[in-house]
Amino acid sequence: MIYYFSGTGNSYAAAKYLADGLGEDLMDIAVAIKENKYEYTLKKDEKLGFVFPVYAWAPPKAVTEFVKNLELYYSGDPYIFAVCTCGASAGRTMDFFEKALEENGLVLDSGFSVVMPDNCITLFEPDSEEEVAEKLEKADQTLDNILRAVKLSWSDFFRVKKGKFSGVLSGVVSPAFNMGALKTKPFYVTDACIGCGLCEKICTSGCIEMTAGIPVWTQDKCNMCLACLNRCPVTAIQYGKKTEKRGRYVHPVYQNEKIGEMTE
Ligand SMILES: Cc1cc2nc3c(=O)[nH]c(=O)nc-3n(C[C@H](O)[C@H](O)[C@H](O)COP(=O)(O)O)c2cc1C
Ligand code: SF4
Ligand code: SF4
Repeated sequence: MIYYFSGTGNSYAAAKYLADGLGEDLMDIAVAIKENKYEYTLKKDEKLGFVFPVYAWAPPKAVTEFVKNLELYYSGDPYIFAVCTCGASAGRTMDFFEKALEENGLVLDSGFSVVMPDNCITLFEPDSEEEVAEKLEKADQTLDNILRAVKLSWSDFFRVKKGKFSGVLSGVVSPAFNMGALKTKPFYVTDACIGCGLCEKICTSGCIEMTAGIPVWTQDKCNMCLACLNRCPVTAIQYGKKTEKRGRYVHPVYQNEKIGEMTE
């Protein structure tokens, strides 16, 4: 089983590639949380994987909370791996994830990072088309190597791009992000909204509700996955003052598969 969490499709695409290569099933963590599906029984020799983005040099809080509460049934010693996708560097993301697993009595055998296009358009311009193409090509190679390592059940094996100042960034910026940067108040919708309801369906926090044909944010804080902001088909969702002039990013696999499924 591969559990994944994804706002704009990078982690979904990575998880799908690994699931296809390993012959494992895929489960969306946001859906599992919404549907209260915390129990899972691993079959004999089934591998357990987690794929998720890096948020402020740490795993998304929803992901660490999920693994802490996962009720896993298994026999023997299951092989467990994790992959974090990031725009540039992961800091101590994998250390934090490993600790969350340990709190649930589980041991992480291997951990990897994959650099993919940056989706954090509340802070930065998205990568250019050339940068996106280059990152996605390199990410395919990295994922190929990860698949090989996981197929061979390499243990105590970690390949994570921590980047510079990882201790400070993960130790200081990450708690500050979780304390103060998850606010939904700066979200607003422009007249461009066509009332399609996609944002409500894809919100990983389940906090968007269509009201009188337009989305309303019903909670003060959310996962800040930026799915709504990046994936609105008419760019009607904005966050604060800076996003009106910025481009958007969605992984091509997500665009083709998930939006097709979501709008059926
Ligand atoms: C709120 C937020 C914080 C982020 N923080 C980081 C970070 O600390 N380091 C980094 O390299 N990328 C960071 N990113 C970029 C994402 O980790 C990256 O684009 C990821 O692949 C997105 O995955 P997804 O498409 O599955 O949602 C951040 C993105 C968001 C939305
Ligand atoms: S996804 Fe965009 S167009 Fe569709 S309802 Fe949400 S804001 Fe409106
Ligand atoms: S409101 Fe937008 S950014 Fe926040 S969790 Fe929902 S989809 Fe993600």
